[in-house]
Amino acid sequence: MKKFVKVALAATCLMTAAVSQAAEPFKIGLIIPMTGPFASTGKQIEAAARLYMQQNGDEVAGRKIELIVKDDGGVQPEATKRIAQELVVQDKVGVLAGFGLTPLAFATAPIATQSKTPMVVMAAGTSSIVQKSPYIVRTSMTLPQVTAPMGQWAAKEGGIKSAVTLIADYGPGHDAEKAFVKNFSEAGGKVLDSLRVPMQNPDFSPFLQRVRDLKPDALFIFVPSGQGSTLMKQFTERNLAGQGIKLIGTGDVLDDDLLPAMGDEALGIITSQHYSTAHDSPENKAYVEAFRKMTNNSMRPNFMSVGGYDGMHLIYEALKKAGPNANGDQLLAAMKGMKWVSPRGPMQIDPETRDVVQDIYIRRSERLADGQIYNVEFDVIKEFKDPGI
Ligand code: PHB
Repeated sequence: MKKFVKVALAATCLMTAAVSQAAEPFKIGLIIPMTGPFASTGKQIEAAARLYMQQNGDEVAGRKIELIVKDDGGVQPEATKRIAQELVVQDKVGVLAGFGLTPLAFATAPIATQSKTPMVVMAAGTSSIVQKSPYIVRTSMTLPQVTAPMGQWAAKEGGIKSAVTLIADYGPGHDAEKAFVKNFSEAGGKVLDSLRVPMQNPDFSPFLQRVRDLKPDALFIFVPSGQGSTLMKQFTERNLAGQGIKLIGTGDVLDDDLLPAMGDEALGIITSQHYSTAHDSPENKAYVEAFRKMTNNSMRPNFMSVGGYDGMHLIYEALKKAGPNANGDQLLAAMKGMKWVSPRGPMQIDPETRDVVQDIYIRRSERLADGQIYNVEFDVIKEFKDPGI
C-alpha cells in the first residue's frame, strides 16, 4: 500500500512536471519596424506571420506558440539590439525573428550568438549578414542574389549597352552596386557612373540630374522597400524616360505594397526579384487570396510578407522535426537544409551558409485585368544561391 502511494505520488509529480513544461509556450520574438519610414515592412511581415498561425494553428507538436511582436522603429540598431536582449533574458524567447534592415540585423547578431538563440532574418538582404552569427538563418533574399541576374539580363537580353547605378548608401545598396557592375560589365555592358544616395530621407533629384546629363541606356536602382514611390515620382518629374533612359532595378523599387498607388509611370519597368504578387502558382494564388482576406483587402502581399510567412514555416517545421522542447542548437540543426514550396516558388536553406536558395525572376510591370499594376514574371533563374560580392 505504502509502495503504491509512493509510486502514485512520484507519477503525479512527473506528470505535473511534464504538464508545466508543456504549458510553457514556445515564444517567438518578432522585432520589426511597425512605425517610421519602414513601417510597411513590419506591417507586411506581421500580417504574414499572423496568417501563417491562423492557417497552421498556435500549437506545434503539443506546445503552444506565442508570437511577441516588438516595434523597433526601423532606424536605430541599438534599439533593436536592446529589444532582442530583453526578449532573450526576460521573455526567454526560443527564436528571434524579423529584422527589417541590415544595420538592425548586424547589431543583433552578437545576442543570438551569446544566447545560442536562432535568429531568423525575414527581411534584411546584405550578403554578409549570415556570417555575423552561426545562429542566423535567412528567409528573405540577398541583394547579390537578386541583382546578378538583372546585370546579366540587361546586357544580354535587354539590349542595354550603358548604365548608371544609383543605390541607397548602406550595406544592401553597396552589394547591389557591386553585383550589378560585375555582372553587367562581364556580360559586355559599360557602367558610366555609380551614385550613392543617403539612406535616410533621400532626395534623389540631384542624382537624377547627373544621370540625365550622362544619358545612359539605363538607370539601375536599389532603394529599400518603402522608398520606391519617392524615387518613381522624382524619376518622372525629371522626365528621364523621355530622354530614352530606361529604369531597371531590383524589385524593391516596384514593391507590390506600393504599386497600387503608382500610375502609368510605373509601367514597362524591368526588375528582378524572388517574389511577385502575380507569381503564377496554386500556392501563391491561395496565399494572395488569404492575405487579402485577412487584411480586409487593404494590403497586397509583397516580398517582405513572404519572408515573414516562410520564416514562420521554418520555425514551425524545425519545432516539429527537433521536438517541442528542442534547444537553440537543435532547432538550428533542424532548420539547416530544410526545403519547401513557398508562395514565391521552391526554396531551401543552404545547410552550409544558412542562407536562402531560391528562384529569381525577371519581371515586367504591366496593368492586369483588375486594373492594377503587377510585376509579371517572364524569365527565371532556378535555385540561385547568393553569389556573394
Ligand atoms: C536591408 O536593409 O537589408 C534591406 C531593406 C529593405 C529592402 C532590401 C534590403 O527592400
